[in-house]
Amino acid sequence: MKIAIVGTGYVGLPSGVGFATLKHNVVCIDKDQEKIRALQSGNVTLYENGMEELFGQVVKKGNLKFTTSFEGVKDADVVILAVGTPPHPKTKEADMRYIYAAAEELAPFLSGYTVIADKSTVPVGTGDEVEKIIRQKNPNADFDVVSLPEFLREGYAIHDFFNPDRIVVGADSKRACDVIKELYKSFEEKTQILFVSRKSAETVKYASNAFLAMKIHYINEMADFCEKSGADIGQVAKGMGLDKRIGNKFLNAGPGYGGSCFPKDTTAMALMAQKYGVKMGLIETTIAGNKARKIKMAERIFDIVKDIKNPKIGVLGLAFKNGTDDVRESPAVEIISAMLEKGADITAFDYQATDNAKKVLLDKIKYAHALEDVFDDADVVAVLTEWEEFKALNIEKLASKMRHKRMVDLRNLFDGQYLRTLGFVYDAIGCVKN
Ligand code: UGA
Repeated sequence: MKIAIVGTGYVGLPSGVGFATLKHNVVCIDKDQEKIRALQSGNVTLYENGMEELFGQVVKKGNLKFTTSFEGVKDADVVILAVGTPPHPKTKEADMRYIYAAAEELAPFLSGYTVIADKSTVPVGTGDEVEKIIRQKNPNADFDVVSLPEFLREGYAIHDFFNPDRIVVGADSKRACDVIKELYKSFEEKTQILFVSRKSAETVKYASNAFLAMKIHYINEMADFCEKSGADIGQVAKGMGLDKRIGNKFLNAGPGYGGSCFPKDTTAMALMAQKYGVKMGLIETTIAGNKARKIKMAERIFDIVKDIKNPKIGVLGLAFKNGTDDVRESPAVEIISAMLEKGADITAFDYQATDNAKKVLLDKIKYAHALEDVFDDADVVAVLTEWEEFKALNIEKLASKMRHKRMVDLRNLFDGQYLRTLGFVYDAIGCVKN
């Protein structure tokens, strides 16, 4: 099939690579000329585990192309909208300007029957609006608009593309359903493809993200309880997760969730519900609790060095989670910012996200070229991102570089018992501090 994808961000690009790998002919469209130039010359513009290799293969075969022109939608069977819906600077609702602009710009180029599939996370009813815009711009166009919510996780987008838990299709026309069935033909055997109404599909996305965010907030609150009661959150989460009704995923307590999705989508969901006169108390509590948690985490790190004047703080991790270079709404960045206000001297390391962090934190902190530099003369090392690689560090060797052996492990990556034998004061989430 011929597929055009509008937007080459964390959803558009991995999806483009994925569909091209499945032998569809894909053209990715983006207004950002610099990005398109880079992609055309074979440079992958964002980090996703396993994407670079597949990208090289499909570009070489000619299955994946890039352009800045909306002419790229000509003859497409499916046009996927994968542009950003960031929070509106004033209202904090999803900012729809990029979606609507894309709908306007692609409309004149539609030829033959085309399915416009929205993968961006958009408020309920957006499909109706996109349909109206296209119809106004091109009254003769033969098209349907469907909602195709995206559940890829950043960092695991390629894995998730090929191994989805489900594919949800929101379509109000049989003709459109048949096209989407064809698009996902190779998934038919192994994945449930659920056909629902367009509005239901739009809601599934928000409802899922908000639920996962609440699950994280719940386990974080439970961790607070464990710290006071003497229980261990790791053991508690394991015991809960064995119940299939609860499930063992998204029960890792930490510094609070971040990223470009959960904070934005929970807020958008709560505001959207308000518009319909519905109060979403659980989501509202989650949003407020998660925000407050990051400040508490900064205080917690400071508390462990309160006896030291101008403490030197080493930070492991800047990305909002492991496996990505993304720092949007990263708990690490927010915790560092709060610590800077208290006058901390910070040196940080990340495997992928340093360049993006520099754009936000500027020269307010030092960026370690080598991970070991984080430990140099540090009074405390704080673990802020759950990079698996941190677990393999030779802590005994690194500890010898520190001024004081203290660690605040906000991702519970290290073995506290072992660290204590090395003489560390070790503070982790959801267990009693020593
Ligand atoms: C999330 C959803 O998981 C995807 O299904 C969805 O497609 C995506 O948003 C989106 O809307 O585009 P993502 O933002 O990439 O994906 O990241 P997650 O893996 O969900 O993690 C979000 C945050 O929660 C991170 O800060 C992570 O560290 C934190 N987290 C996650 C925890 O603190 N504990 C956990 O157990 C899991």
